Amino acid sequence: DWTSEQFIEATVADLQQQIGNDKVVLGLSGGVDSSVAAMLIHQAIGKNLYCIFVDNGLLRKDEFETVLDSYKHMGLNVKGVDSKNRFYDALAGISDPELKRKAIGRVFIEVFDDEAHQIEDVKWLAQGTIYPDVIESMSVKGPSATIKSHHNVGGLPDFMKLKVVEPLKTLFKDEVRLVGKTLKIDDTILGRHPFPGPGLAIRILSDVTPQKVAILQQVDHIFISNLKKTGLYDEVWQAGAILTPVQSVGVMGDERTYEHVVALRAVTSIDGMTADWSRLPYEFLADVSNEIINKVKGVNRVVYDISSKPPATIEWE
Ligand code: XMP
Repeated sequence: DWTSEQFIEATVADLQQQIGNDKVVLGLSGGVDSSVAAMLIHQAIGKNLYCIFVDNGLLRKDEFETVLDSYKHMGLNVKGVDSKNRFYDALAGISDPELKRKAIGRVFIEVFDDEAHQIEDVKWLAQGTIYPDVIESMSVKGPSATIKSHHNVGGLPDFMKLKVVEPLKTLFKDEVRLVGKTLKIDDTILGRHPFPGPGLAIRILSDVTPQKVAILQQVDHIFISNLKKTGLYDEVWQAGAILTPVQSVGVMGDERTYEHVVALRAVTSIDGMTADWSRLPYEFLADVSNEIINKVKGVNRVVYDISSKPPATIEWE
């Protein structure tokens, strides 16, 4: 029978044999997979693992600082790279969802390549690929697909010429979580909802600006922290907010307002392939809606998405 202890023991031994005294570079995302992959490789080769965590300006509120901090506490050799403006510049004026994904993928590769170049004599690229990613590698969505599409655009970035190591390639998500638990990775990382690589960019249904990101971060933060406070967070597979380009009329005192409509989305799912909308309690939705409208400037209406997948996808774009 498979146990996480045996898996860790065998994998650490394999990694030590495979990698020896070489240096390895790995991109951390804040998600479960890259974090567990990092801790496993760190267990095997310690400081020869160089982790890079990129702030693309599209993460949740305070996420970059909080997660970077927990990585440092875990003893990882990690460099946080603030590249917000490079991403915002590349996204300026783009509304098409696939063009957003392409721009984000391209800038990520540029930033990562710049950083990898600063690690002298690095030999390996580590990735947190898990078994379902291997099966789904034909999908147009997802960071690995983004990287693959660049194979054809001539000149590979240098880091992609590195040898690849993917220690989680045979595992399913629940096994990855078990390995993470055995490695004593924080529950705030292991229990985290899935979050798309392109981040909040694909939850802003129009062109992305730093101002819109700031509005959406506040809305999302109110929604997610209330889910956590009420214990509903763990009952939901994934939750988030969408900033729609629709503006609607409202009243505030004697004034009429004309501001954004935001949508809240929360779903239950096993694997993200199909999903049902979460039956969150009315009282909870009422509280979250009030708090958003009272606190977030630029938003005067909140709606809740009651569509299941299929046909509606989890993300709106
Ligand atoms: P959909 O919207 O297709 O999403 O129902 C299914 C799952 O995939 C995530 N998702 C992405 N993840 N890059 C990613 O890394 C992407 O471009 C992307 N698009 C969607 C989504 O958050 C959900 O968990």
